[in-house]
Amino acid sequence: MPFPQERPRRLRATPGLRALVRETVLRPDDLVMPFFVRPGKGEKRPIKSMPGQSQLTVDELVKAATHVAAAGVPAVILFGIPDRKDAKATGAYARDGIVQMAARALKARHPGLVVMADLCFCEYTDHGHCGVVRRNGSIDNDATLELAAKTAVSQAEAGCDVVAPSGMMDGQVAAIRKALDGAGFEETPILAYAVKYASGFYGPFRDAAESPPKFGDRSTHQMDPGNSREALREADLDAAEGADMLMVKPALPYLDVLAAVRARCHLPVAAYCVSGEYSMIKAAAARGWIDEKRVALEALTSIRRAGADFILTYHALEAARWLA
Ligand code: PBG
Repeated sequence: MPFPQERPRRLRATPGLRALVRETVLRPDDLVMPFFVRPGKGEKRPIKSMPGQSQLTVDELVKAATHVAAAGVPAVILFGIPDRKDAKATGAYARDGIVQMAARALKARHPGLVVMADLCFCEYTDHGHCGVVRRNGSIDNDATLELAAKTAVSQAEAGCDVVAPSGMMDGQVAAIRKALDGAGFEETPILAYAVKYASGFYGPFRDAAESPPKFGDRSTHQMDPGNSREALREADLDAAEGADMLMVKPALPYLDVLAAVRARCHLPVAAYCVSGEYSMIKAAAARGWIDEKRVALEALTSIRRAGADFILTYHALEAARWLA
């Protein structure tokens, strides 16, 4: 051996030594649990493409949140499935919209739980696009900002602790910040989906949220998977517009981007380990090809190692229990 003194294995010899030198540790505190909420009562509709996840009515959501909080997970993020969809996404900013009702119920029963609201329109529009669609089929960026502003205020009024715009419209963080401040919600933080790719990994989510676009796709607003300098541009813009936290999404296929965003700015950075990432692990584990617990915890740890302060993951509840 040329350097007999260099023996990294010395520090791997026992569990105690390995614990002492471990650089990244995953805790329940690092996780956010996403939920899909729908109108009705006493109903859990399993989502076929996401084993273990269901669309929940508000009462069932409140029960599920009890387990999440008990496992030490500090936050949830809500996605709504409205009973009616229209061209103006009315359900997204209605006072009695599904996310608004869910947030009120959650805050009443679990005041300490951080309730985040996803802010996008694809679940609420009859065409399934993330904004106002012009006659020629393109998305009207600035008309969509007006809806985003209204939706943010309505979510804050319902008690949401954090609003999380995910539509990738230009200027959305500034528009939302201005609207929140104007309505007296200066203290409500914005978690910006700053870097969101046009990804095939959202496939199961679109089933879960009943939100696939009826025509076209999302590649005129979501980012091209080949780009990373553009990710820094998006992150810079959202930070300048007043975002309190930045998100990169999906997570595992974009760890390089996550690390670059982390190095670039001092805001907290989140990663969204999306539906397809979850379902791949579930599917392989169901066939006995991988050990679910080991692989899920390894994936989440690597997302933290790449620089995420916290992770939105459908494995949040299970992971928190495994870590207990
Ligand atoms: C948009 C939104 C999407 C996801 C979160 N917010 C879907 C999309 O952009 O098509 C995907 C999340 C996941 O796949 O888990 N409302």
